[in-house]
Amino acid sequence: MIKVRGLSKSFGDHVVLKDVNVEIKDGEILAILGESGAGKSVFLQHLIGLFRPDQGTVEIDGRDVTHLSERSWLELRKNMGYLFQQGALYDFMTVFENVAFPLQEHTSLQAREIKVKVDEILEMVGLQEAARKYPAELSGGMKKRAALARAVVLGSKIIFCDEPTSGLDPMRSRDISDLIQRTSRRLKCTTVITSHDVPNSFRIADRLVVFREGVIIAVGTQQELLASSDQFIKEFIK
Ligand SMILES: Nc1ncnc2c1ncn2[C@@H]1O[C@H](COP(=O)(O)OP(=O)(O)O)[C@@H](O)[C@H]1O
Ligand SMILES: [Mg+2]
Repeated sequence: MIKVRGLSKSFGDHVVLKDVNVEIKDGEILAILGESGAGKSVFLQHLIGLFRPDQGTVEIDGRDVTHLSERSWLELRKNMGYLFQQGALYDFMTVFENVAFPLQEHTSLQAREIKVKVDEILEMVGLQEAARKYPAELSGGMKKRAALARAVVLGSKIIFCDEPTSGLDPMRSRDISDLIQRTSRRLKCTTVITSHDVPNSFRIADRLVVFREGVIIAVGTQQELLASSDQFIKEFIK
């Protein structure tokens, strides 16, 4: 369980997040929706310790992590997988090598065990045929699949995805969304996705949070959001 209480963050005099309160339950897929600039990515970065709040707290599994040292965050992040827009693949490594890399860095597994594990994950994301390819030889959708494989290969119980469908056509967007959902369920992960892609967020999320100018204006299931009488929400999810 991730609990965020009273989180506020400004950059200079630009208030980006205002008194954000949210609980993310174990095993759920939570989508953070909102227009560009609403504060979604900044919020997500607080959950992985890349930003520290000006006010408020972040608690993960009962532990207050708000003011952990960078060293402690490094430890904590080993149990988190993330699929970031920029956090792309290493261009000079094949898909196989990219996915194997976290295992080589953070575990003492033998090459043979690493191969078994990587093959299994690549099969799960449908990339076994592309194992020997380099990122430059992959389509946008395949790159996202490879990045997802790398994000989950260490067995992280929490996955963060920042705009996983951005830059993809509608079909690829749907594919990667469904893959995130399948992967999340299969590995029993808690998954937090930021997105402005309403249809795909509705498809795969258990609950959704809507940010507007750094404030949460709605939290609930798809049905609950659809029943909202708030004009902005109606427009946004239409
Ligand atoms: N490192 C930073 N320094 C200053 N301003 C930032 C920084 N990161 C984000 N912002 C600002 O915070 C606001 C929210 O950004 P962001 O969370 O990236 O929005 P989005 O909802 O599109 O993900 C934007 O106005 C952005 O310019
Ligand atoms: Mg963003």
